[in-house]
Amino acid sequence: MSYGDDFQRKSKYTRGSLSGRSLNWNKKPDPYKAYPPDRERIQLEDPDTEGGGPLYSLLKERRSVRAYGPGAMDKGTLGQLLWASQGISRDTRQHQLRTAPSAGALYPIETYVVANNVRGLEPGVYHYEVFQHGLALVRPGEWGAALARAALGQNMLARAPAVFAWSALVERCKWKYDQRAYRYIYLDAGHAAQNLALAAVALGLGSCQVGAFFDGEVDDVLELDGVEETVIYMSAVGPGK
Ligand SMILES: Cc1cc2nc3c(=O)[nH]c(=O)nc-3n(C[C@H](O)[C@H](O)[C@H](O)COP(=O)(O)O)c2cc1C
Repeated sequence: MSYGDDFQRKSKYTRGSLSGRSLNWNKKPDPYKAYPPDRERIQLEDPDTEGGGPLYSLLKERRSVRAYGPGAMDKGTLGQLLWASQGISRDTRQHQLRTAPSAGALYPIETYVVANNVRGLEPGVYHYEVFQHGLALVRPGEWGAALARAALGQNMLARAPAVFAWSALVERCKWKYDQRAYRYIYLDAGHAAQNLALAAVALGLGSCQVGAFFDGEVDDVLELDGVEETVIYMSAVGPGK
């Protein structure tokens, strides 16, 4: 099986391969996923956009943390982490630009939180509504154990107060970049996760990025179809032990 090698080779830009391509602006996908209006919604406090600690110290301190204390996380802290990972940091006339870069400003990455122990939030799966800086309830319930099973038994996903899961709405990026979109989707998700990791350190928390999981099982927890939208990456986050 060499489809990885194949993908890398076939998705290379070479001189001449870009000519003759044009974009259908009528089909440009919307950068915001919206759940139906009858879903329960939680508005988050405005994020702090100043301070947060000296960058080089945060870079030096960041380590993958896999053991979490029993305490809950505040809803405000969760909101701060969400903003740091994918929040809007500048509104231009054309785009709402985010804290993390995205190829072509297309933002194919959606952010979900599996709330295991967040003060002020019922346990459940939530979708981050970037534009509103709020959460929409995807499904209530304690999903941490199912998520841990889906991640090859990594129990930190059940013990951490919150788990971030980033999916991709593939067409949002394919609309412009076709098969090369997959490269950009993975890169975009990495930026989102690194922002979270550094913000966690700034807030005195730890995180661990997770790429080992049965994709279909995580998609099931998040209620994603696995084709149009599929999980890419996860991070556990919370106070280290
Ligand atoms: C793409 C990616 C996937 C990862 N997947 C896992 C994982 O499934 N489980 C885990 O415990 N750590 C995972 N990690 C964390 C790495 O093991 C960790 O970053 C590495 O050992 C370096 O340690 P540090 O993060 O403390 O610097 C992953 C890291 C990356 C970048």
